Amino acid sequence: MTATKLVVDPRLAEAPEIVGGCRIIRLPKIADVRGNLSFIEGGRHIPFAIRRTFWIYDVPGGESRGGHGYRELEEFIIAASGSFDVTVDDGTHRQVVLLNRSYFGLYVPQLIWREIDNFSSNSVALILASLPYSEEDYLRNYEAFTRARRAGGK
Ligand code: TYD
Repeated sequence: MTATKLVVDPRLAEAPEIVGGCRIIRLPKIADVRGNLSFIEGGRHIPFAIRRTFWIYDVPGGESRGGHGYRELEEFIIAASGSFDVTVDDGTHRQVVLLNRSYFGLYVPQLIWREIDNFSSNSVALILASLPYSEEDYLRNYEAFTRARRAGGK
């Protein structure tokens, strides 16, 4: 499967939808000479209520995180600092999205295979999730992921 890389133009309000219902969402940005401020309200700026937040940081050069899908969980991924690539795959198409601004992020619905790599030094991947942590929700094997997709998440 070949992957196209989507580099989002930060001047765009919304980028076109990408694979499997994933989409870039631009966040409010309050520009101020004292420093910029952005914010997210669950259910308003992103299409789910936030039940959990986690972040990935201090990633050694060349490492990759998050090679898995979720049965039910939806998430929103932001480059709170630095940059990284998120590869999203709906079982048929694969796309690589470069996140490099803290005022936009990538919405990932359930049943998408996703991996994060090419972390710049000192980058922080901030992830807002629709559910508490549950290992049962993970699809850690790509074949199991495609089977679950074909079965509609069952
Ligand atoms: P995981 O989501 O598997 O990260 P990756 O796919 O990048 O390897 O999480 C790594 C470990 O952290 C895993 O053992 C579960 C634990 N974990 C929690 O306990 N709570 C959480 O909210 C998350 C995201 C992970």
